[in-house]
Amino acid sequence: MTERFGSYQNEIYLQGLGGQLPPCSTDATKLEASAREVMAPGPFSYVAGAAGSGATARANREAFDRWRVVPRMLTGATDRDLATTVLGSRLPAPVAVAPVGVQSIVHPDAESATARAAASIGLPFVLSTASSTGIEDVAAAGGDGPRWFQLYWPGDADVCASLLDRAKNAGYTALVVTLDTWTLAWRPSDLDQAYLPFLKGEGCAVPFTDPVFRGLLEKTPEEDPNMAILRWIGMLTGTDRTWDQLPFLREHWDGLIVLKGIQHVADARRAAEAGMDGIVVSNHGGRQVDGSIATLDALPGVVEAVDGRVPVLLDSGVRSGADAFKAIALGATAVLIGRAYVWGLAVAGQAGVREVLENLRAELDLTLALAGCHSLAEVGPESLWDVG
Ligand SMILES: Cc1cc2nc3c(=O)[nH]c(=O)nc-3n(C[C@H](O)[C@H](O)[C@H](O)COP(=O)(O)O)c2cc1C
Repeated sequence: MTERFGSYQNEIYLQGLGGQLPPCSTDATKLEASAREVMAPGPFSYVAGAAGSGATARANREAFDRWRVVPRMLTGATDRDLATTVLGSRLPAPVAVAPVGVQSIVHPDAESATARAAASIGLPFVLSTASSTGIEDVAAAGGDGPRWFQLYWPGDADVCASLLDRAKNAGYTALVVTLDTWTLAWRPSDLDQAYLPFLKGEGCAVPFTDPVFRGLLEKTPEEDPNMAILRWIGMLTGTDRTWDQLPFLREHWDGLIVLKGIQHVADARRAAEAGMDGIVVSNHGGRQVDGSIATLDALPGVVEAVDGRVPVLLDSGVRSGADAFKAIALGATAVLIGRAYVWGLAVAGQAGVREVLENLRAELDLTLALAGCHSLAEVGPESLWDVG
């Protein structure tokens, strides 16, 4: 008998009888407004913001709205199975928690709260290189939960090798290499406030706790934070990589390697040919290239290009269980949740993150049920209608 995630709504209704309401809205599209009320303007805009005019972030949402679910009747879909194996981790549902850096600007419990929330329902947390909490501390917070490590590829090879070594030793099983942010995009909402959290030392815990990085400094980050910050930023941005450098990662990481930020079919094909273990179709939530393709629009071409050779995950714009259903129907193996959980963290800390994840999982389960699907394998293009 599979777990019925959709029955989470019964819990909510029952708790309501005792006067208890959910810690944040069950509609993830409303969470941004709630978070705005509790966050300072700089951090709020940093999370909410996108590149340029915001066209990509809007396109991500519009792409989901252009597809409609076509419900099926009388299929006996009482029991559903959402369990699946993604990047070697057995998951209760095809959902992962996207790498989002600098969570200390969102809530004082930061990444540890997110890791605990994700682990409490068995979903993987992808820890960012730009985390405000160290690799090992987040691993300890996540306990037995599945965890993957996201790499921003540092310019210094020894520092890079050290981060990979630490992540491996701390039990992160997959490496998610983010390729789309080798240089920061034009982000007017941050520029208008001249706000970049890293310059204030937020989101630098990974290098600052790294022995190899520390060894490069004349003074420790505690003694001279500005020097350490500038050294790290210089190492992290401004250097594009090339396909022929991927073997370096293989050499220093013996687990699975996934490329995040793929949108072009030729890049998808190349990733599969390069022996990568997966792809995340992502445009960084619209934060990098203004006016770029929506990830849901890119997905079918990428899925066709890799032709089953590697799993294809998707993020950017996923807000609901119905969104996750649509991505899976178009060939995604799993979706990653970004801003939605960050707003939950802002509003209610660990409980807020858990709530967002649990809500999305419940709604995905109910969408399968009402679309007449018993399992993820039954969710396919025929479950959708393209309104064009
Ligand atoms: C505030 C913020 C910080 C982010 N930091 C990172 C990061 O450190 N590494 C990374 O790979 N992606 C990062 N992302 C991108 C997310 O992993 C993900 O691709 C994106 O949030 C998905 O879009 P969504 O927010 O619309 O769901 C960040 C996104 C946001 C909103």
